[in-house]
Amino acid sequence: SLVDKANYRHFMAKEIHEQPEVVGHTLARYVDMATERVSLPVKLPFDFKTIQRINITACGTASYAGFVAKYWFERFARVPVEVDVASEFRYREAPLRKGDLAIFISQSGETADTLAALRYAKAGGVHTVAVVNVATSTIARESETVLQTLAGPEIGVASTKAFTCQLMVLANLAIAAGKARGELSDEDETRLVHGLVEIPRLMSDALTTEVEIERLAREIAKSRDVLYLGRGTSFPLALEGALKLKEISYIHAEGYAAGELKHGPIALIDETMPVVVIAPYDRVFEKTVSNMQEVAARGGKIILMTDAKGAEEATVDSLVTIVMPDMAGAFTPMVYAVPVQLLAYHTAVVMGTDVDQPRNLAKSVTVE
Ligand code: AGP
Repeated sequence: SLVDKANYRHFMAKEIHEQPEVVGHTLARYVDMATERVSLPVKLPFDFKTIQRINITACGTASYAGFVAKYWFERFARVPVEVDVASEFRYREAPLRKGDLAIFISQSGETADTLAALRYAKAGGVHTVAVVNVATSTIARESETVLQTLAGPEIGVASTKAFTCQLMVLANLAIAAGKARGELSDEDETRLVHGLVEIPRLMSDALTTEVEIERLAREIAKSRDVLYLGRGTSFPLALEGALKLKEISYIHAEGYAAGELKHGPIALIDETMPVVVIAPYDRVFEKTVSNMQEVAARGGKIILMTDAKGAEEATVDSLVTIVMPDMAGAFTPMVYAVPVQLLAYHTAVVMGTDVDQPRNLAKSVTVE
């Protein structure tokens, strides 16, 4: 059945490995595979052309999916996006413009702060879209439009497959927005959708880094703190990597925009500090390389996640380079999520923690 561990040691391991399949299911729900065009399962009750700003609100990992999506909406659709954690959005009385759009992201669909934020947005007269995994949930019921992720039941407290499925839904919505606003041509759409169609296979390839990551986890398990760095869409993924490690291994970790390194966290760097750098070979790669050089110059241990081209161009000594499949374009976070999750998972296994039920955490936070 869907809710047993099959032959995995933990639900989290099973859920990480399921991703090519469930992200593929989600993709199939949102695109027309024959024409490689976006085809949303529901008709949106608004026109993206009239939207002046999008507010995205969620908690934890779901908020990082929203943060990635901000880059996509702004790039594909040239629409400004604000991302908030729900506990801030609900109380700060953010001004909303009637007829604009607010997107809420939640695996469980029951998170108290996200639900309260949804109610606030509805009261403000904006359109609401919920990206939820549980179709019968309160957030799904109360939202004007529901876009479901087809991740299936997620049992591990640490969210994995729900996150990548959220990204898949949001990528399609951002492309749809770009089309509606005339920022993307038909050819752009087909090229982007083609990129999405490749994702499940690339995620399977990314899973083959597991043996190496298991070895690396034994090193990480000896550390007191770990820093995660990334630029562009790899920045929210750095935040997610740090959250995942904290949650299940109890090792302190922080995610930073690589460009912020010299504005503070560089003071922490010494020989004992592993720095995970998420850097696909993209348009900001060179900038990230110079940040890595700053880390290397201070003896920091670099764990570089990049592709073959990046590995070749990164003129810096890393402790380990995790070589990822080659892929072009904007959708690297879905694929790089895999080694990021595996690193947290295997570190937790080395530490001997209760991976699926980490201390002090609940799967869904239904109280404030
Ligand atoms: C993820 O690993 C966390 N356990 C947590 O941050 C979670 O993503 C957050 O509580 C939001 O939950 P939801 O998606 O069910 O709303």
